[in-house]
Order: sequence, then C-alpha cells, then structure tokens
Amino acid sequence: MKAREAAAQVRAELEAAGIPDAAMEAELLTRHASGLSRSAFFADEPVAEGAWDELNALITRRLRREPTPYLTGLREFHGLELVVGPGALIPRPETELLVEIGLSELERDPGATVLDLGTGCGAIAIAVAKAAPGTRVIAADVSADALRVAAMNVKRHGVPVSLVQSDLARAIRQADIILANLPYVPEGIIETLQPEVQHYEPRVALNGGEDGLDLVRALLTDCESRLRPRLVAFEIGMGQARHVVEAAEALGAEAGIEHDLVGWERVVTARWA
Ligand SMILES: C[S@@+](CC[C@H](N)C(=O)[O-])C[C@H]1O[C@@H](n2cnc3c(N)ncnc32)[C@H](O)[C@@H]1O
Repeated sequence: MKAREAAAQVRAELEAAGIPDAAMEAELLTRHASGLSRSAFFADEPVAEGAWDELNALITRRLRREPTPYLTGLREFHGLELVVGPGALIPRPETELLVEIGLSELERDPGATVLDLGTGCGAIAIAVAKAAPGTRVIAADVSADALRVAAMNVKRHGVPVSLVQSDLARAIRQADIILANLPYVPEGIIETLQPEVQHYEPRVALNGGEDGLDLVRALLTDCESRLRPRLVAFEIGMGQARHVVEAAEALGAEAGIEHDLVGWERVVTARWA
C-alpha cells in the first residue's frame, strides 16, 4: 500500500476515536512505522509489508491515548528536533515564548547566565544555547528521569548546557536570567485534563499544589531573598497571571505580563532593581 493511503486509514481510525489533529498524527505515525522521510511520504512511496505490524501497534497505543510524541520519541521545539520520553513533559509550542524572552534579555546583557528551571527534556535551555552560542546555560530539574532525557538532547544538539539535579534553585548559586516552566496545574484539576496528559505525562511536571502556584511562589521568595536575578520569567496557566504579579510585587519586584500568539496571558516576568 502507498504511504498516503496507509495514512488515510490511520486517520480514519483516529478520527473515529475522536482524536484531534488526526491527519497530522496519522502522517507522523505512518512515517515513524515505515521509516519514510517527509519527502518520501509526500512522494507517496510504498509502505513496506513489514511496517504494518509496527503501525498497528502504534495505532493501538494511540487509541489508548498515549501521546504521539511518546510513540515516535520525537518532538519539535523552537525549530529543534528533541528526544522525548515518558520521564519528561512533552514541550509545548507556547513555551517558546520563554525562549524569546530569554533571548531578548540576552541581547541587553550578553554575558548573563541563564537558568532553565524545571527543564524537563531540556527544551528551553537547548533552544537558548543554540540561538545564543557562548551563553552560560544551566538546566535544572528535580527529576532524575527528566534529566536523563535532557542529557540525550544536550548530546544530540552538541550544546554546552550544564545539567543539575535541584529542588527548585536550591543547588544553584547564581543566575541572571531564570526561565521557569514549573508545574502550575492546580492539583484538583489534574483528573480533568486530557487522558494523554493525566495518564501519561509525569505528575511531577504538572502538579503545582492547591492553586497551582506553590512552586512559583517558592521560587519568587528565593529570588528575592538570595538569588537576585535581573529577570525571572514564569510560564503560567489561565487566570493565574494576576496572582503571580501580586506575589512578585509583594516581594518588591517590578512585574509584567507577556501574551502568547493566541493572546493569552502566558508569562509573568519579575525584575528586581
Ligand atoms: C511543566 S514541566 C516543564 C518542562 C520543560 N521546561 C518544558 O517546558 O517542556 C515542569 C518541570 O519542572 C520539574 N519540577 C517539578 N518540581 C520541581 C522542583 N521542585 N524543582 C525543580 N524542578 C521541578 C518537573 O520535573 C518538570 O520537568
């Protein structure tokens, strides 16, 4: 069978199960199982007989709602292909805003040390290190599983990112720019998230405590009392920006809100004089 006909069959199965973006997912799964490149897929080359068992196994897992990036083992972020696996959150496109904020701060202060706190698969740190060579970049996470995935990506992209296991910034002595996509989902709503997220992504990457902001507040306190970065930028969820701004201002910071491409309040920045 030709590649596009195979993908059409996969798409029909995914759509019947109500899986969104079925066309894109079908292409990714078909290409992954068959080993066809993007151009070979669009040239409609045949899917080898032997690839069908693999493709059917992938469909079965996807119908159980396992996320496609965990099935293919790859995810694109900021133009980079990253390895992903169940030990680390799948990086989301909206998180690229933190990278952009970090890069524009680096333009003002090229010698700054950047800390990606809660690095997961290393996405933010590696994107910054790639776009701003020569920058000292530290990637920290409490999770050894996440750091194992991050180490694969650091190696894959050949960037000089230092990986550190740390509960919040406790193991970090100094940082000028902190980019923090810490867990911010309120504990009580985790059970209402899509099955892909609640059943497959690590709880430690999601659970931000009762209102989702336990770790954000703790890091703000550490920034004010000890680290004194020139900038800390937090990715946050819907309805949380105002609370984070209030918490930062209560600690004497100048706080701001940045919007993502769809206009949502996505990042809160805090600066101390
Ligand atoms: C929302 S995920 C973000 C992952 C990655 N930065 C990204 O954007 O794809 C949050 C990350 O914070 C880490 N984390 C959770 N609690 C932490 C803590 N107390 N100290 C450091 N990292 C923590 C999790 O292991 C997870 O990798």
